[in-house]
Amino acid sequence: MPDMGLTGKVAIVTGAGSRADGIGNGRAAAILLAREGVKVLLIDATVKNAEATKAVIDKEGNTSMVVEADVTVPKSCEAAVARTVAAWGRLDILVNNVGVGGSGGNAVDLDLEAWDRDLRINVTSMMLMARYAIPEMRKQKGGAIVNIASVAGLRGGHSGLLYPTSKGAVVNMTRAMAAHHGPEGIRVNCIAPGMVYTPMVYARGNGMSEELRDSRRKRSLLQTEGSGWDIGNGVVYLVSDMARWVTGVIHPIDAGATAGSLGSPSPPPDKR
Ligand SMILES: NC(=O)c1ccc[n+]([C@@H]2O[C@H](COP(=O)([O-])OP(=O)(O)OC[C@H]3O[C@@H](n4cnc5c(N)ncnc54)[C@H](O)[C@@H]3O)[C@@H](O)[C@H]2O)c1
Repeated sequence: MPDMGLTGKVAIVTGAGSRADGIGNGRAAAILLAREGVKVLLIDATVKNAEATKAVIDKEGNTSMVVEADVTVPKSCEAAVARTVAAWGRLDILVNNVGVGGSGGNAVDLDLEAWDRDLRINVTSMMLMARYAIPEMRKQKGGAIVNIASVAGLRGGHSGLLYPTSKGAVVNMTRAMAAHHGPEGIRVNCIAPGMVYTPMVYARGNGMSEELRDSRRKRSLLQTEGSGWDIGNGVVYLVSDMARWVTGVIHPIDAGATAGSLGSPSPPPDKR
């Protein structure tokens, strides 16, 4: 029976800050990995966001380091990996968390420049980080990557086209990467979060009304609201030795939203 096997490992979490106070998915994953004895490089394009995550990790007596980097820029990704290895001698884990709701619109009215920019943030950045992380993982003869997608990448029904398209790409990029790198002991998995109450949803635009929160909670099979911690716990499991036989998996963490809906009351049984 393997244990978590995480103590002494080295991880990179992208988007390890949160865009506002509170616990986002990247921040939660970084804090929880550090609690398991992982040294965590915290990448964020807005350095103060990652510094706030580091402050929590420091307070708990665990180890992390902040690197300011935009993960859409190849040289920045390469430099962040090099910095990790220079500091801690190895790289075992990559959590590709950066992602944005991005531009709205359907095929007819969306803005093409914004579409290209947001695809680069949501999809290309994950490939770029993997491009520089995998050669380091090969040196350890193994590693684990988790890509953060969304339930929006598993089905239609989203108001915009960019977000479900890009997250759907993350879903299948995960399977393709798992097939490429499985024989070298590198596991690649994906988490598809449902709507979790994080700064990403409550700090955007006009925020989120209590009515909307309540209606989402009531629509979930578990009748509860999720948080960044729920996603972070999934990350810890997937990168740990508990999941040593798990790769290419798309793991919804969504209170059952993709399993089905509560539906309406059953019709009366057939008369016989
Ligand atoms: N919150 C939800 O309900 C929900 C649902 C499904 C999926 N997700 C996914 O979770 C992930 C984000 O979660 P979060 O809570 O950490 O989000 P967040 O918006 O708080 O972002 C985390 C950090 O990413 C940084 N960032 C943005 N672009 C960057 C870039 N190009 N390079 C480096 N850093 C960058 C931001 O500065 C921010 O500090 C995304 O992939 C998102 O699509 C969230």
